[in-house]
Parts: sequence; structure tokens; C-alpha cells
Amino acid sequence: MKDRQNIHGSWASRWVFIMAATGSAVGLGNIWKFPYIAGQNGGGAFVLVYLLFILAVGVPIMMAEVLVGRRGRQSPINSMREVALEADHSPNWSMVGWVGALAGFLIFSFYSVVAGWVLAYVAAMGNGEFLDIGSEQAGKAFSRLLADPQALLIWHSVFVVLVMVVLMGGVNKGLERATKIMMPALFVLLLLLLGYSMTSGSFGEGVEFLFHFDPSELSWDAVLVALGHSFFTLSLGMGSIMAYGSYMPKSASIGGTVLTIAALDTIVALVAGMAIFPIVFANSLDPGAGPGLMFITLPVAFGHMPGGQIFGFLFFVLVALAAWTSAISLMEPGVAWMVEKFGLKRGPVCIMLGLLVWLLGIAALSSFNFGSDIALFGMNIFDFLDFVTANIFLPLGGLFVAVFTGWILHQRITRDELAIVTPAYYLAWSVTIRYIAPIAVAAIFIFNLIEKLG
Ligand code: PHE
Ligand code: NA
Repeated sequence: MKDRQNIHGSWASRWVFIMAATGSAVGLGNIWKFPYIAGQNGGGAFVLVYLLFILAVGVPIMMAEVLVGRRGRQSPINSMREVALEADHSPNWSMVGWVGALAGFLIFSFYSVVAGWVLAYVAAMGNGEFLDIGSEQAGKAFSRLLADPQALLIWHSVFVVLVMVVLMGGVNKGLERATKIMMPALFVLLLLLLGYSMTSGSFGEGVEFLFHFDPSELSWDAVLVALGHSFFTLSLGMGSIMAYGSYMPKSASIGGTVLTIAALDTIVALVAGMAIFPIVFANSLDPGAGPGLMFITLPVAFGHMPGGQIFGFLFFVLVALAAWTSAISLMEPGVAWMVEKFGLKRGPVCIMLGLLVWLLGIAALSSFNFGSDIALFGMNIFDFLDFVTANIFLPLGGLFVAVFTGWILHQRITRDELAIVTPAYYLAWSVTIRYIAPIAVAAIFIFNLIEKLG
């Protein structure tokens, strides 16, 4: 049994790894994206399919990523190569790490724009701009922000700097402390918001929307979106969790740890949905409103709540923090690789990569104003980046990781790393990673293709 040391550092304990990985997982995906895609896809059946994917595809693949990262003890690109060599296979498996790092950049570019909206809302809430606001005015305020490239650019830039500063500090400093404070606070605020929406009158309608089951509402499109989102929300398929796994202590068990992270991520998404939809229905808003959903509904709720100004301010601060810890993990694979490859310090690496994602982000934010005419496959740049990363890059990345750990790695290695004592549990993981997860991903791709061509 070997245990290399990671040159970038390691988490102090299993608990710190859980906090860091949860910090990566819980982000805009839970609070902003999940409610709006559930809304666009009719809720109910979509949510159920999403939950199924978390359990049958996300959890086993997250275990696989942690396993490879901890075995390789390097950036995803180098860990994939190292572990492939250990299994007497081609070092070209590092390609999976490459594509993942690229996906991280692309995701970052639109993620940072949305995080910028959140920062703008922190300021607006602090100024009391949403006091007693109606839903129509809230919609207009959001449109005004999107139409203002200068404001978007400022907030996007602030966010990029925040993320890069923490990345410069390295694995152990800053990040650990931030997540430890942020997670409990986020939970408390979400619960308070949930309390408000429960008493706002349309809680039943909101819950019914999220959990009713009508399979006839489900299209292959929606299934693809649910699959893509299960990867996005758990930070899978691009190396974030693999990178964080490479800093995990050898003594910690992977299975229980991963289940905890997936459960926390799922709870936050469901609570966010149950906080937002009752407000949507109480104000006769459109659940299918899209990316603006959270930015229009919540200000209305806060505007009417006692203490709503301070409370809304705090809420958006916490969404910003959640986005921030996720964005850090989007860049960590690329940063770690550059440090390993060129022997550079993290500082210069972060400045270089920061500039790159900052530029990409400008392309993404132009989608709402001066670049709104640019169309890629019928989508604006922002939607295109979101679509290709979540629905193509991440599921494909996950598929390769599943095939790699299930079929290429010797069982000796996977058994050693997972250290599962109950044989039935190892068998369950092995069957899902070899058959269920790859077949599910491949089948959904194929059905979507057939439907598009047909
Ligand atoms: N999981 C994050 C969220 O839900 C997004 C993310 C995706 C972060 C991929 C890292 C890697 O917001
Ligand atoms: Na998430």
C-alpha cells in the first residue's frame, strides 16, 4: 500500500475534506440553477429523475474521482496519467484531465458572471433597493442589470479577483476556514427563508410543483438536463473533486464521505426549491422564467419580510460565498497542473489563468447586451457555455472516469483505495461504475441524438 504526499498540501482531516468538497458542490448550481431548470422542465418528474441520477450515477462517480485523486496525489491531469501507468495502461488517460480542466475554464466564465449578479444584489439589498418591491419591478430591475455591461464587468472582475486571491494562498489557508463558517450559516438562512415561504400561502402549490409525478411531462431533453445537472451540482466530470480528493488523508473512508457530500448538496438544492417556488406561485410569477428566477422572486420575498433588508443582504452574501468556494474548485485542477508542470509559484499561475477566465467571462456577459446577436447553435454565448459544459463535457468526463475505474484499474487498486469492508457494498459500487453509470450516460446521449436527427 503506497501513499505519496501531495506537493500542494493535504486537508487536516476527513471532516475538512467534507467541508471543502461540500463547498465545491454547494453553489449557484443548487440555489440558482436547480430551481430554474426544475421550473423550465415542469418540476415533479424532472426532480425525481435528477435524484435518481445523483444516487445511481453521481455518487459512484464521485467515489471514483476521489479514489483516482487520492491514488495519484497530483492534479487530475497528472493523477490520471500516474494511476493509468500503475495499472499498466496508456498515459494518454491524462486526456480526461485535460478536457476536464478546459471544462472548468468554460464553466468559470459564465459562473463568474452569475456570481457577479449575486454581488450586485448584495449591494442593492444593502442599499434597501428592494423594499416593498413588486414582482414586476423586480423583473425590471434584473433586466436593467443585464443590459448594463459596465456594471456586469465590474462585478465579474471583482469575483475573478476574489477567487484568484484565495487560490494564490493555496490549499490550506483561507479555504478551509471560509467553508467552515459558510456552510452552517447558509443552512440557517435557507431554513429561515423556507420558513417564510411556508407561511407565504402557496407552500403547498410549490411543493406540489416540485414533487408531483407525471412521467408524461418528461422529454429526452429534460432527462439530459437532469443528467447534466447531477454532474454539475456535484462538481463531477471535470476534475474538481479529483483534485480535492488528492488532498484527502489516506485514512478516511471514501464511501461514507461521498454520501455525506452528496446528501448535503441535495438537501440545499431541495430547500432552495421549496423556498423559491411558493413565492413564485404566491406572486403569480412564471416558474419557467429561466436564469432570472432567483433574482426576481427572492427580492420580492425579502422586500415584504420583516427585517427583509438585512436578511436579504445576508442571503445574497451567502450565495456569493457559496459561489466563491465552488469557483475556487473550478480553477484548482488547472492551477495545480501548471505548478506541477512548470515549477511555477501559485501567484503567477493564478494571475495568468485569472486573466484568461476574465476575458472569457466578458464574452459570456456580452450575451445580455452588446453581444446578444451572437448565436452558437441557436444559443447566445452564455447559454451555449452553460449547455455544452453541463450537458456534454461533464457527462462525458464522468463516463470516462467510470470506464477508467471500473474497467481499466485493477480491482486490487480500487479495493485498496475504497477500503470497503462489506463485500456487498463493494459489489454495488463495482456494478454501478461498470454498467449502470456508463450505460445510463451513453443511452441518454444516444436517445438525444436520435431525437435531434429524427
Ligand atoms: N457544483 C457547483 C455548483 O453546484 C458548480 C461546479 C461545477 C463547481 C463543476 C466545480 C465543478 O454550483
Ligand atoms: Na451543487
